[in-house]
Amino acid sequence: MSATVSLPDLIDYAQTSEEQFLRQIFVRDQMADWSRQPLIMARADGVHYWDVTGKRYLDALSGNYVVSVGHNNRRVIEAIHRQLDILHFSPVMHGTNPVAVQLANLLAELAPGDLNTVKFQCGGSEVTEAAIKLARQYHKLTGSPGKYKIISRYQAWHGSTMGSLSASGLKSRKTVNEPLAPGFVHVFPPTCYRCPFGKQYPDCGITCATLINDVVDMEDPATVAAIMVEPIGHTGGIIDPPEEYLPLLRDYCDRHNILLIFDEIITGIGRTGRMFAAETFGVTPDVLCIGKGLGGGYVPLSAMICRKPIMEAFWGPIAENPGFVEGHTNEGNPISCAAGLAVLGEILEKDLCGNARKQGARLRAGFQRLADQYGIIGDIRGKGLLQGIEFVRNRATKERFPDAFGVKVGRRALENGLLCRFDPHWIAFGPSLISTGEQIDEMVAVLDRSIGEVLGKERDFV
Ligand SMILES: Cc1ncc(COP(=O)(O)O)c(C=O)c1O
Repeated sequence: MSATVSLPDLIDYAQTSEEQFLRQIFVRDQMADWSRQPLIMARADGVHYWDVTGKRYLDALSGNYVVSVGHNNRRVIEAIHRQLDILHFSPVMHGTNPVAVQLANLLAELAPGDLNTVKFQCGGSEVTEAAIKLARQYHKLTGSPGKYKIISRYQAWHGSTMGSLSASGLKSRKTVNEPLAPGFVHVFPPTCYRCPFGKQYPDCGITCATLINDVVDMEDPATVAAIMVEPIGHTGGIIDPPEEYLPLLRDYCDRHNILLIFDEIITGIGRTGRMFAAETFGVTPDVLCIGKGLGGGYVPLSAMICRKPIMEAFWGPIAENPGFVEGHTNEGNPISCAAGLAVLGEILEKDLCGNARKQGARLRAGFQRLADQYGIIGDIRGKGLLQGIEFVRNRATKERFPDAFGVKVGRRALENGLLCRFDPHWIAFGPSLISTGEQIDEMVAVLDRSIGEVLGKERDFV
């Protein structure tokens, strides 16, 4: 490094970047590939982004299921400014701060049942990891020290830290990091459209759930601490379970003294049309994890909320009970919590959960129109403003395209100024809860055009 380094002009620097400059940053994409057409966002407002070249994008993904109350939301920004003037950090080893207490109390009020005690962190991985530790420590404190195994699902994503990654079920993200932590058992997810057991709902006996009970039995219930699932699985293609599935898991957990953990990092904070997907499905877990939309992208903020009887196990006398042994330096940061309070205030006052239900119905109708128009959409899944479509070459046989058709459509959509989630065989939308009907229609229209353009190039597939 030279002795004098001046700060680059952020926009010009990124705009004129050649690969040599982009080599200084790790991104989530394959870097050499990304650097050929780097996406570098410069600013955002409402449901739109602008990149450093000035190109505008319609954000059908809330950044990454994060920007719950839209970009440039003045209420959240002003709450952050106010809090900065009052207190920006409190001594985390010695206590907490008033805004963290306020946000914990609001979440306890909003969460279903007796979910009433909150641990704040910065990211989703930290709170799913915390939930795993809570389950293990809870069983140790309550006379079942042999319970340590976590049952979770293939294709799930619970995070990047070693524990949350070990609970995850995506080989593309796991294999390079193996060996992972011991004590994690995986089961197949409820992918009804492609039932792993070759059955057809509703005559399937909900095998995807009953087999989990069998797995608990085979593993020995005395060794199982928790079952952890996303109410709607995201990776794997918006895996929406049959209505019996989560109530059955609740029942197995009750019978075997196993904690039910919902990872609602994506599904929480209004996305499925209720504040928590637990309410959408009418099932209360023992531990509920939220992230992404809670801070709305303005701050890093996540939370783990546990039920009252679990909290009580951690209130014993100090000689027998060390409290919950889990913590990070930035947990419960006052700036983050002030932003979280403003995000929730915005959702509650503007009934954005109601808007997610309303616009979710509009999005479903839009996807259905595309399915009627093109013979290559085999399934539409999800709830509220978390919905996806699965592409198939042949609807009758469910045969997939031989190549990554979804990626082609997603990339074309980006070229056409639409940001959505894409995978080789599916595409998902997760727009901001503030989206209007017209904006939803526009998002679907750009997707429509993008599918048409990709198909136009590949007529031999249809
Ligand atoms: C369902 C789910 N859980 C956990 C995580 C991990 O969250 P983070 O990336 O904030 O650590 C994610 C991230 O995408 C997620 O989608």
